[in-house]
Amino acid sequence: MKPDNLNRRNFLQWTALTGGALGLGLSPVETIAAAAGQNIETKGHVFLTKPYLQAPEPDGMTIMWLTGRQSQSWVEYQAVGGQKLRAESSVNGMFQINPRIQRIRLNGLKPGTAYSYTVFSKEIVDFQPYKITFGETIQSGPYSFTTPPDDKENVSFLILNDIHDRPASYSQLIGLNKAEPYDFVFLNGDMFDYQTDEQQLIDHMIAPCTASFASLKPFMFIRGNHETRGKFSPNIGQYFENPGGRAYFSFDRGPVHFICLDTGEDKADDTPVYAGLADYDRFREEQAAWLAQHMQSKAYRKARFKVVLMHIPHYYSGDWHGAMHCRQLFGPLFNKHKIDMLISGHTHRYGIHEPQEGHNFPIVIGGGPQAGKRTLIRFRANPSKLSVEMIRDDGQAVGTYSINR
Ligand SMILES: [Fe+2]
Repeated sequence: MKPDNLNRRNFLQWTALTGGALGLGLSPVETIAAAAGQNIETKGHVFLTKPYLQAPEPDGMTIMWLTGRQSQSWVEYQAVGGQKLRAESSVNGMFQINPRIQRIRLNGLKPGTAYSYTVFSKEIVDFQPYKITFGETIQSGPYSFTTPPDDKENVSFLILNDIHDRPASYSQLIGLNKAEPYDFVFLNGDMFDYQTDEQQLIDHMIAPCTASFASLKPFMFIRGNHETRGKFSPNIGQYFENPGGRAYFSFDRGPVHFICLDTGEDKADDTPVYAGLADYDRFREEQAAWLAQHMQSKAYRKARFKVVLMHIPHYYSGDWHGAMHCRQLFGPLFNKHKIDMLISGHTHRYGIHEPQEGHNFPIVIGGGPQAGKRTLIRFRANPSKLSVEMIRDDGQAVGTYSINR
């Protein structure tokens, strides 16, 4: 019996039938991986996911996918009517051969331009010092995407939050947008309850995202307080790429300057369940120092609209340590430097809170995760107007907010 999808339950069945990982002569490290419920064998040389688009910029796009075996991977792409090009990941003079996670950055793209692309992975069967044996080449595509325009005119995107391991919610919520155009999707944290293994990452996020949009439109993802939990939580950063390659970041799109923060855990770092591994106070302080500096930048000061996305809102989420620490560190900076809007999740109670004492800007909070509480937030901006619309999973619009300039 070959362990195809080795989740915890069928791992136990498989161990009973075969004598387990040790019976296969695996190394102790692989044995530990097996005991942790991760895949140690896969379906062979196949795509474990469709390609998904990351880190969109007017002149670049990252294409990621997962393969079952070690591969040399590349992307063939072309602008509509243009010449066919090939991109590969080269580090220090070597084309990369990755065991599973394939990541190719396309650089030098034209802004606001449609591209088609196909991804390829050639199996490495044997890697001897002077004899490398390749296997079959598999391909997936063609798909297409459009680079963001490099102007200050328009942006539109969709926001999901607090899915909490309910993969069907992705297509159900994205479907609420009907056929309205959008540029990308923003995943605003707590897409999981906690991190178990790669298979969970595939089944509960990457596959549902590619099934509804992610091979054609990029997504960005910031952690909520649940992505910090579980044995696979230290690994998840490898599977995603934000603009600038960091967990917290900023980017400009249309007339809006966006700031995305990682609010970390909701409880104090010394809470016993974190077992001494939590360092989120320091991490939030690091972000506050970056934010204070960043808000002095020309990109920030000159932007027509300034919008912050972060999972835990610093108001309306009780007096837990994480929220209060965000209020203490980020709140004064948001007010002083006049952000136009904060968009969050976390509370599982959707709502739009008007500017009032404590926050001089609206706080938009998406709901979830159960049916009847889930929302899609639709964001649009042009130079004279920023607007958000919150749509509940039954299709009902449950909140709107506009800022005119
Ligand atoms: Fe949360």
